[in-house]
Amino acid sequence: MQKLRHVLSTKQFGDTRLLEQLCASAAQMELDDVARTLPQPLRGRILATLFYEPSTRTRFSFEAAMQKLGGSVITAENAKDSSSATKGETIADTIRVVSGYADAIVMRHYEEGAAKKAADASPVPVINAGDGVGEHPTQALADVFTINKELGKVDGAKVALIGDLLNGRTIHSLLPLLALYRDVSIILVSPKQLRLPVKYVSFLESKGVRFVETDKLAGAVRSADVVYVTRVQRERFLSAEEYEAVKDAYIIDAKIADNLKSTAIIMHALPRVNEISPDVDANYRAAYFRQAKNAMYIRMALLNYLLA
Ligand code: CP
Repeated sequence: MQKLRHVLSTKQFGDTRLLEQLCASAAQMELDDVARTLPQPLRGRILATLFYEPSTRTRFSFEAAMQKLGGSVITAENAKDSSSATKGETIADTIRVVSGYADAIVMRHYEEGAAKKAADASPVPVINAGDGVGEHPTQALADVFTINKELGKVDGAKVALIGDLLNGRTIHSLLPLLALYRDVSIILVSPKQLRLPVKYVSFLESKGVRFVETDKLAGAVRSADVVYVTRVQRERFLSAEEYEAVKDAYIIDAKIADNLKSTAIIMHALPRVNEISPDVDANYRAAYFRQAKNAMYIRMALLNYLLA
């Protein structure tokens, strides 16, 4: 198993071995965190978080992860406006400079492919924290960790992916990981305008993954083990009218949640808008806030893997 240097895409994971290793490490990190016995393997190391797009969870959880392991953080939380990108500096030049100050760089950018450009220029590990409508690989690691914890396994899971499959980079990263597991079946639920891009459909076909596409929510979620809801990504639409036409296409409310399988879980990378009603939050199946916390532990495991 070749060690990853950068984390740009979940297609870098050729099988489940590294995934299982990271999940086991994350589970141990969580136990140690609760017991307040966390080791400090990253003492003296610096993480740079360079965010050209807004974030709450990804940036804070990476920064918390680094600090819990003894490291420290330098950050540009609004790099599009506050970094020298405003003066015309290229991503490559910025990364060459920041890599002189930090041992690893977590970058979110509005352009698909920006993380690859950064990695090509970087002597230190680059972690893709979201590149436009491309990928968000560490969210997918958090998702697999969550499914493993909640269901006990990923093999055999029936996963309904709901909402903006066109622009949802968490979905683009999750599909290649799900494809590594045995007997996973996928239901792609979206309005026609927001269907999964052809390249990901072709990927599923090439891997022999069972999947169906539909625009009907009710039948799709009835037998699902994982009901994974996504936000319609307003910032990716060219016009307000196009967004308005689909923004509330699917809403999971308490009635729908109560009628899911008793063992089903409801996931969402967050932030949510209207697609999951607040009255679902009290349902034991609602795993999305646990998922957000799991993301910190899997990011701890990843930083430890890359840097320790
Ligand atoms: N899930 C996620 O990426 O959330 P943020 O945009 O808040 O980082």
